[in-house]
Amino acid sequence: MNVLLTAGPTREYFDTVRFISNGSTGKLGYAIAREFRQRGHAVTLVSGPTQLADPDGVDVIRVETAQEMLDACMARFDRMDLAVMTAAVCDYRPAERSSRKVAKGSGPVQIELVPNPDICAILGKAKRVDQRVIGFAMEDHDHRAHAEAKLRRKNCDGIVLNGVTNVAVDEGAVEFLAAGGAWSGPATGRKDVLAARVVDFAERLVSGGAI
Ligand code: CTP
Repeated sequence: MNVLLTAGPTREYFDTVRFISNGSTGKLGYAIAREFRQRGHAVTLVSGPTQLADPDGVDVIRVETAQEMLDACMARFDRMDLAVMTAAVCDYRPAERSSRKVAKGSGPVQIELVPNPDICAILGKAKRVDQRVIGFAMEDHDHRAHAEAKLRRKNCDGIVLNGVTNVAVDEGAVEFLAAGGAWSGPATGRKDVLAARVVDFAERLVSGGAI
């Protein structure tokens, strides 16, 4: 199948060189891209800035901002069977991006932030009946309730629940929620092990098999 993946953080600039972002390394998303590829799927990876090399055999599109990530996804979604949204997209961006580096002043500075588009929700609402969208939920409390709310809000077919303790570390634990309410997992281990379990979950969702 044709699989679209997002991975890594986004950068939201307020001048020519400065931005807000987060600590996502993209490791799990890249591991998932490699796993899909090894199982014979055609993979397109839309990636925010990472230190990671392009996975072999994967079509990698490098972007910086959430808007660029959305545009790259929308240009390709039509020919996809599945989208898996692992990116740590910044929910907000500075309202203005100065075309010059902002010089230092002596007092405090306020930066107004405006909401970014929700790429997962946009794809979830745009999908055809033959397309599937899997979101990730990054939670630090009321994990399952928040994941269930995200699944509905973003019209996803499945959610991978990822604890905040998984950010920028090599091991972690994830749980899986399918549309309809069935939970499975947890899967624990290194990111390549988790990636294989995520791809198992995705393949089951797409084939309509038992979760
Ligand atoms: N996501 C996205 N675009 C955004 C924000 C999130 O595509 N602007 C995707 C993420 O890639 C993930 C899912 O939505 O697959 C959930 O992300 P998460 O950060 O857990 O949730 P948020 O929607 O940001 O909600 P909240 O901050 O309230 O937890």
